[in-house]
Amino acid sequence: MTDWIKIDTYVRQWLKEARENILDSFNHTLNIQTKSDRNDLVTNIDKETELFLVNNIMKHFPNHRIVGEEGHGKDINQEDGIIWIIDPIDGTVNFVHQQRNFAISIGIYENGRGKFGYIYDVVQDELYFVEVGKGAFFNGQPIPLLEATKVENAIIGINSSWIISNRHIPVGNLHNLVRDSRATRSLGAASLEFAYVATGRLDAYIAMRLSPWDFAAGKLLIEELGGVVTTVKGETLNLLESSTVFVSNKALHNEILTNYFNTSND
Ligand code: IPD
Ligand code: CA
Ligand code: CA
Ligand code: CA
Repeated sequence: MTDWIKIDTYVRQWLKEARENILDSFNHTLNIQTKSDRNDLVTNIDKETELFLVNNIMKHFPNHRIVGEEGHGKDINQEDGIIWIIDPIDGTVNFVHQQRNFAISIGIYENGRGKFGYIYDVVQDELYFVEVGKGAFFNGQPIPLLEATKVENAIIGINSSWIISNRHIPVGNLHNLVRDSRATRSLGAASLEFAYVATGRLDAYIAMRLSPWDFAAGKLLIEELGGVVTTVKGETLNLLESSTVFVSNKALHNEILTNYFNTSND
């Protein structure tokens, strides 16, 4: 039998320990490298944080599998067993430039079904936590179910570069959505944008390319609160693949899919 209480206890302890190391890094020079392009950054702290989590998981739960952004388990293509999906620092550009607005994101799944999700805003020391079927919590306080909203009153999280060009939605449709909504915001840390939708600070979040570690925890959080997480075409996300992501309460999701993302008549 899996000891889920033990897993949860360890994760909370590890998040605090990782926080100490990350905050301490602000007093030292970061080692910053680029990955796919000059704006795709990774630092020694991204790698250290992932290694810290991976070593601890392997020590205490040797039968579990791990997918981490900075190199662990990218070859995993089956959802069986217990899988930890980790983004050690989500929002690395914010981490480097702002020293805030980044999070550690951990989703834990068993045979493809979500169990725990943790999104930890390191600087604010704020934990968004979900235990699937048992509730979603912000720093231990239950988060209420998502309320229905309309485009005209909605604040939508979207990266402005996708309003200029993307392969998935005609840009004109995105222009219309931006025009019709109350406002748009762009935080730059996908997991926190999920957490902001969960807590009503955003009404929707739209991303043209996210990886499993960006959405593994956030998807569980939103779904627990009655929200919907799909691709921008309304398709189910694949837990182990990158895709577009569209997060919102049910009513707004429906309105945006029908009126702005429905490209079937093009
Ligand atoms: C990135 C952030 C960003 C999103 C990118 C992600 P990273 O994660 O979540 O907001 O737009 O698609 O890759 O690389 O900082 O972990
Ligand atoms: Ca990255
Ligand atoms: Ca990320
Ligand atoms: Ca990352």
